[in-house]
Formats: sequence, C-alpha cells, structure tokens
Amino acid sequence: MIHFTKTTTAVLLAVLILPGLAFPEATLIERGKQLTEQVAKCQDCHTRRTPTGNLDKGAWLQGTPIDPAPAPSGKPTIRIPDITPEGTLWILWGERGMLNFLEKGTSPSGATPSTHMPAYKMRHDDAEAIVAYLKSLRRPSAPASSSRGSRR
Ligand code: HEC
Repeated sequence: MIHFTKTTTAVLLAVLILPGLAFPEATLIERGKQLTEQVAKCQDCHTRRTPTGNLDKGAWLQGTPIDPAPAPSGKPTIRIPDITPEGTLWILWGERGMLNFLEKGTSPSGATPSTHMPAYKMRHDDAEAIVAYLKSLRRPSAPASSSRGSRR
C-alpha cells in the first residue's frame, strides 16, 4: 500500500490540475502574438486596410485581396488568405497543416507559396506559439472548434 505524504499528494494534485490551468497556454499565446505581430508581421500582409490605409483591427489576420484592380471576372486576381481559425485554410489544413507550413514552408500538398508569402522554416516551438496565437483568434460567434488537426 502506497503511503501518501502531504508532499506526494501536493505533487500529484499539481500534476493533475496544472495542465488544465490557463496560465501556460496564455504564455504560449502571448509569445505567439509577439512573434506574429512583432517579428514575422503577418498582419502587414494578412490584414486588410481601411480607406485611410491603416490595418483594419476589426478584421485582424482575416486576409485581403491585394490586387486592387479586379480581373475581368470581377474577382481580385490574388488573395491573401484568412489565417484565423475561421478561415478556409484552417478548415482544410487543420492545426497540423498550419504548424507544418510554418516549420517546413510547404502546404499539406507539398506546395510552396507562390507570391510574396515567405516560405518559413521556423523552429518548432516558435511555430507552435504562432499556431496557439492564431487559434486564440477564434471569434466568439463562430461555430465550435473543428477537431481536425491533432494537437501535439
Ligand atoms: C510579405 C507579406 C506576407 C507576410 C509577412 C506573411 N504572409 Fe502569408 N501570405 C502572403 C501571400 C501573398 C499569400 C498568398 C500566396 C499564395 O497564394 O501562394 C500568403 C499565404 C499564406 C498562407 C497560405 C499558403 C498556401 O500555400 O496556400 C498561409 C498559411 C500564410 N500565408 C500564413 C502566414 C503567417 C502565419 C504569417 C506570419 C507568420 C504570414 N503568412 C506572413 C503574404 C504574406
């Protein structure tokens, strides 16, 4: 029979409870936000501008057409995708796909991005932090999280 000292009990409780606390996750998200906004500056390309040329904070990282002159079809010829969890990309790629893209520079189909999008080769923990931050951008009104893309 195992004898539980106060210390063992405290350690066990910590192991059981800590992963559920918001703190470590919040730190990861904070780091991801910093990498995204201060280092990689994803928003400079992936956020549309207001008529006065400022980044539209209400559409943060939700993509933008970059060709202001529409093609004859009326559609912009190049689009910079929405990289928030509501975007088609997350739905198609999942979390794992996004993580791989940042680490290896290729999409799940093995393609490298075409124009202007840097093919990143990030460190795993940097990529993980950015993915955690992007995930935190889920809009409250949006449908519940899809379970695609497994967590690491
Ligand atoms: C210099 C501008 C620029 C920056 C900075 C930038 N992107 Fe992009 N991104 C683009 C463009 C342009 C495309 C569309 C390229 C294409 O269609 O191949 C794109 C496409 C993507 C795609 C889809 C790629 C594909 O193969 O469909 C992802 C995912 C992405 N960006 C994520 C990010 C993340 C995350 C960051 C910051 C860590 C970032 N981007 C920073 C310009 C940029």
